[in-house]
Amino acid sequence: MKTLQRTLSIIKPDAVEKGAAGDIIHTLLENKFRTIGMKMLHINKAQAEGFYAVHVSRPFFESLTNFMSSGPIIVIALEKEDAIADYRKLMGATDPAKAEEGTIRKKWAANIEKNAVHGSDAEDTARFELSYFFAGYELAK
Ligand code: CMP
Repeated sequence: MKTLQRTLSIIKPDAVEKGAAGDIIHTLLENKFRTIGMKMLHINKAQAEGFYAVHVSRPFFESLTNFMSSGPIIVIALEKEDAIADYRKLMGATDPAKAEEGTIRKKWAANIEKNAVHGSDAEDTARFELSYFFAGYELAK
């Protein structure tokens, strides 16, 4: 059974800098995701560390949080039936070398870190990640 879900998408600094945001948003809409919140932000290092706290012990944490605070990002709240899995499929594998043809990362990601987009991986992380960037009143009904 399909469930109506919300998930967080981030268009990362590499993709914003390349001018890929319009194409990525168009792809989301084409794939029937409803955008219920969207904003451009330039987060600082501490804010990036808070968002990626689950990865604190990973060797790439320092580099990842430097990258995510290096330029503007676009955070998008998405809603759709099975949004979490459907958006992860549309993004493609974390490593663009392994991403399938037709995915956002295949088209726009440079490497495993500068991989163009982020998407929540489960319902509890989606709740945390959406609330990290959006107050309840900022999301469309
Ligand atoms: P994201 O989906 O935002 O979740 C965690 C991020 O860490 C991931 O995308 C990449 O940007 C980054 N990442 C994951 N694995 C690696 C890795 N092996 N080396 C460098 N960065 C990574």
